[in-house]
Amino acid sequence: MAAKDFVIVVLAAGKGTRLKSALAKVLHRAGGRPVVEHVARAAKPLGAKIVVVVGHQADDVRAIVESAAAGAACVLQEPQRGTGHAMLVARKVIGRAKYALVVPGDAPLVRTETLASVMRAHQKGGAAVTILSALLHEPAGYGRIVRKHDGTVAAIVEEKALTDEQRIINEVNSSIYCFTLEKLWPALTKVRPDNYHRELYLTDTIALLNQQGERVLAEVAPDAQEILGCNTRAELAEVDRVFRARKRAELMDAGVTIQMPETVLIDPEVTIGADTVIEPAVQLLGRTRIGANCTIRTGSVLSDAMLEDGVTVRQHCVVYATKLGKGCVVGPFAHLRDGTELKPGARVGNYVEVKKSVLEEGVKAMHLSYLGDATIGRETNVGAGTITCNYDGVRKNRTTIGRRVFVGSDTALVAPVKVGDGAYIAAGSTITEDVPSNALGIARGRQSVKLGWAAQRRAEMAAAANPRKKSKSRRKPVRKKAAKRTKKRR
Ligand code: UD1
Ligand code: CA
Repeated sequence: MAAKDFVIVVLAAGKGTRLKSALAKVLHRAGGRPVVEHVARAAKPLGAKIVVVVGHQADDVRAIVESAAAGAACVLQEPQRGTGHAMLVARKVIGRAKYALVVPGDAPLVRTETLASVMRAHQKGGAAVTILSALLHEPAGYGRIVRKHDGTVAAIVEEKALTDEQRIINEVNSSIYCFTLEKLWPALTKVRPDNYHRELYLTDTIALLNQQGERVLAEVAPDAQEILGCNTRAELAEVDRVFRARKRAELMDAGVTIQMPETVLIDPEVTIGADTVIEPAVQLLGRTRIGANCTIRTGSVLSDAMLEDGVTVRQHCVVYATKLGKGCVVGPFAHLRDGTELKPGARVGNYVEVKKSVLEEGVKAMHLSYLGDATIGRETNVGAGTITCNYDGVRKNRTTIGRRVFVGSDTALVAPVKVGDGAYIAAGSTITEDVPSNALGIARGRQSVKLGWAAQRRAEMAAAANPRKKSKSRRKPVRKKAAKRTKKRR
């Protein structure tokens, strides 16, 4: 099959009225990508010139197509007068190709191999057009293939024009076809907009070619799912489901355990190493890369995350643009984001948020903390409730903590601030100045203890509630005495 004899024409100008959306149909996402991107990716390896007919939100469609299939040419169809009209518009940029493989921009499940087989079948069959058809249990909405007694095709009849006998035909038009262009163009000029939508239907060329005695063939797709379109939200959801199932099957084949797979959503570019276990209701998004022997526990969402081998993400974590070193354990309920890095063996526990921070090996931050714009040295312990106050209302400031530091619970570190190696921070401190190595930083109010105060207060309240009863204890001026006995302790 010589690629230079072919041009691939992707029809992607339509609005998608049935989606009831401000977004053009082919820009809707399924399987983690815009619908038209899947089509462009499937067409690219065929090696033929690609022409994409764009219309609604043309600039956005063009940008996606050009990045997915470099060298593709886009041509503007304005206004959109039907699939036949789209082909006439494409003609201007088709060049010298003998055959056109037409692919709808809204059928993203089609595989490269399937497109190649239509091209081969067309060259082998010597027909004016070779249609890829499919057998569907529910053919409603698709054009039906009307065959002749010899098995060749007489016509494609659109849903709205079906007779009662034709309505039960379950062989449908995929809108993927290979045309011999010298046969197509004359037929296309004869097509009239005699239909409900007043459009020029590419499908009407089939009956015309047949009437002229041309041979029209239809090849049934081995996998009917590949031709599913995205005309409605329900179809879009179905197509997404198929993509997700394909991706999971691929990963399971490569040695990944996925529990209750239908509950797990994985984007197309995600990679996962062997013997990793993905628990139910997990989402792995973007360019997430997961090593071998990891465990991603239920309810966690990872996006653009990089996990080395042996990492455990416990239940209900959100991990965005974060690197987790070998053997790290995080969560449950951790939120790690925006360029955070945990070196091997660092631990982040429950209700800890870490943003744009580096936690060196052996750092522990186990409970209820916010660490933002911070660097934390090896084996430092971050106590419960530690907060880096990184924002001064104008800009973000850094907190730098050295090695083997002990940060007491409920510490506020007001950035920019530095804590040297081996230092101690007393619990409850608000640290506003640098703490040198091996020093103690303490910054909190002194405690005072008032002996008997609580008992007296209760008695007073009881008396106020029952004014007739004489109170046993009358308030004595205990304050001075108590103050004397207050332990001088900070
Ligand atoms: C079309 C076929 C139908 C087939 C079905 C398969 C026609 C008349 N009908 O119906 O036989 O079963 O696909 O999915 O072709 N487009 C343009 N310009 C236009 C109109 C459409 O580029 O003026 C593009 C759309 O963006 C879409 C594709 O062509 O990607 C198909 O158009 P759509 O309106 O979805 O056709 P269907 O009604 O699905
Ligand atoms: Ca369609």
